[in-house]
Amino acid sequence: MRILVVGGGGREHTICWALSRSATIFCAPGNPGTRDIGTNLPINPSDQDAVVAAVRENQIDLTIIGPEAPLAEGLVDRLVSEGHHAFGPGAKAARLESSKAFAKDVMVAAGVATAASEKFTDEARALEYIASHPEPLVVKASGLAAGKGAVVCPDRATAQRTAREMLAGKFGSAGDLILVEEFLEGEELSVIALTDGEQVMLLPSSQDHKRLGEGDTGPNTGGMGAYAPVSIAGPALLDRALKDVREPVLAKMAEAGTPYTGILYAGLMIDSSGELSVLEFNCRFGDPEAQVVLPVLDTDLTEHMWRIAANEPWSPDDLRQAASRAAVTTVLASPGYPVAPVKGAVISIPEDLPSDTLLFHAGTSYDSDGVLRTAGGRVLCATGLGADVPEALARSQCLADAVHFEGKVFRRDIAWREVARAGAA
Ligand code: AMP
Ligand code: GLY
Repeated sequence: MRILVVGGGGREHTICWALSRSATIFCAPGNPGTRDIGTNLPINPSDQDAVVAAVRENQIDLTIIGPEAPLAEGLVDRLVSEGHHAFGPGAKAARLESSKAFAKDVMVAAGVATAASEKFTDEARALEYIASHPEPLVVKASGLAAGKGAVVCPDRATAQRTAREMLAGKFGSAGDLILVEEFLEGEELSVIALTDGEQVMLLPSSQDHKRLGEGDTGPNTGGMGAYAPVSIAGPALLDRALKDVREPVLAKMAEAGTPYTGILYAGLMIDSSGELSVLEFNCRFGDPEAQVVLPVLDTDLTEHMWRIAANEPWSPDDLRQAASRAAVTTVLASPGYPVAPVKGAVISIPEDLPSDTLLFHAGTSYDSDGVLRTAGGRVLCATGLGADVPEALARSQCLADAVHFEGKVFRRDIAWREVARAGAA
């Protein structure tokens, strides 16, 4: 099978790596990591004409879209309308991620537990609502804002300022409509699933680390590291993530004439009594969650994705029992990330990586002399595998230490919650 993966970050390198065991890989535009696995095609994922032409020219059997923007722009609809197989939701179904207001309406209609929230396009109304609701509050731009559109506001004044900024265009049209939401306490959990619109295959649970600094301090980032699986996500909790979240939402999507297929990622909040609420849906793998979930997956992803995209009979595996291995990924970022990353530093990677590690490229590129340099905020993802999370963490850190570039920034406390649980057990 010939597979085209659209995108060029750490997530896409990981998807290419996972699928390369059973397929020939193309990646658009890809990065130096995907170049080692398959063929990179210099195409902008938003250029649908170029993607369609590449699919035709390279006789691609299946296209898999990594990031949210091309999904929201309707790349799957376009490919399918031209007779090609593509994995992922069409633009209408992708609104579960691209419109937080739409996702909230679907959750409420489906009876899914989620934070109470109200929508606003009018500043005065938003400010009035904030003034009469308890702190803290969460203010969200409804549209896609590159992961920066949700702001947890400790007090009403911050919430009002944030609402004003969003409605005034801080995130462009993504903030024309905002949501003001009740703040939920607890521990966050990512549960990624594959679905054909009816059946669901839950992948191992994971946890992201959004803050730049150790101890979950400093500014929010795209994610500084992740681990899988998460021990609080036992079979009973995963059952609820299936029965009380996925199934009712998929039924509502089908009822509305926009059946959902592809990846359905639920960002959950688990409170102290173990109850779950949905914070958000994504219509793609998480980044860096993919860098830990795919390496511990005990199944052939290619076969599942193909059957879903080609509408062939599909039997999902039941992966609700804990994965047989654990993985931790440590993101190596450029100095100045996330505000103003300094790029262009020479990267040195040891010839032989430490055992049980995988190095995924995110923001790297070769210069005209063939020297590998930093080319983005998040540069590389150092994944370690092990029998348990502490062992995987040690390997991830060993790899993170072995890779060099000037000003390398990374956290040494990825998976700290799980390490604390392991220590207490
Ligand atoms: P979202 O883009 O909606 O997932 O929000 C991004 C992040 O903001 C989440 O991962 C949470 O850390 C936080 N967040 C979003 N909504 C809430 C909420 N209602 N209560 C507490 N934290 C939230
Ligand atoms: N790591 C969070 C996300 O991909 O949305």
